[in-house]
Amino acid sequence: MPTLDAAWMPRHIAIIMDGNGRWAQKRKLQRVRGHEKGAETVRRIVTACRELGVKALSLYAFSEENWSRPRLEVRALMGLLRRFLVGERATLLKNSIRLVVSGRLAKLPDSVREKLLPLIAETANNRGMTLNLCLAYGGKEEIVDACQAIAGKAASGQVAPEAVTPEFFEQHLYVPDLPPIDLMIRTSGEQRISGFLPWQLTYAELYFTPVFWPDFTRADLETAIADYQARERRFGKTSAQTAKLSRPRKDAR
Ligand code: FPP
Repeated sequence: MPTLDAAWMPRHIAIIMDGNGRWAQKRKLQRVRGHEKGAETVRRIVTACRELGVKALSLYAFSEENWSRPRLEVRALMGLLRRFLVGERATLLKNSIRLVVSGRLAKLPDSVREKLLPLIAETANNRGMTLNLCLAYGGKEEIVDACQAIAGKAASGQVAPEAVTPEFFEQHLYVPDLPPIDLMIRTSGEQRISGFLPWQLTYAELYFTPVFWPDFTRADLETAIADYQARERRFGKTSAQTAKLSRPRKDAR
């Protein structure tokens, strides 16, 4: 396992959990079996992030486009989600994990929402880590939904156009109080963003691994974090400027 620098942990990690279907296909299993294994990986990685001191974890669990998958697969994914919410409740509470959701929640089946909404309320004051499940989520949709909310305020005279700054805009995202994403991981070898949190990913470091999501382990997560920690983040500045600004000195811990 790589040695990680505790002073330089990514505050917010976002993951595109890809490759469940191919994992199953390789084993001549139904795709749903891949999602089931993938849900086990979710449990392990949530715990690992909490233990490592990550403050926010965003998981792309179901995209707007995923509604067009075969009906049985959509139903199986919703069932897994429901089981996850029931099964992980105690762990979220014990580990002080706040659950939030990004996406068009109204589109989710009642069977999921009736587990989701109480758990969001029950964990709202937890401060150990935030778990942001992206469900019925689309990046363009999130930006459009924010624009509609702002346009509504503008139309009723509550906000002047020049008051719309990046900070103001951010307050209208699905979850306004998340830190910016430091590290985005996509499993399964695909190198795309697929509409995932485009606003929040603006300055994220991107990490792609060929490992399929059901096989992704804590060691793989730590390898990704070590890779992130070896990078220089410049945020548009020069190397000389960021050397002074960003990396905490080892003796300053
Ligand atoms: C992408 O793999 C994965 C998904 C569309 C769903 C992700 C869902 C889970 C990991 C399990 C349920 C989630 C929770 C939070 C309990 P794919 O099916 O597109 O894989 P493929 O590209 O190999 O076909």
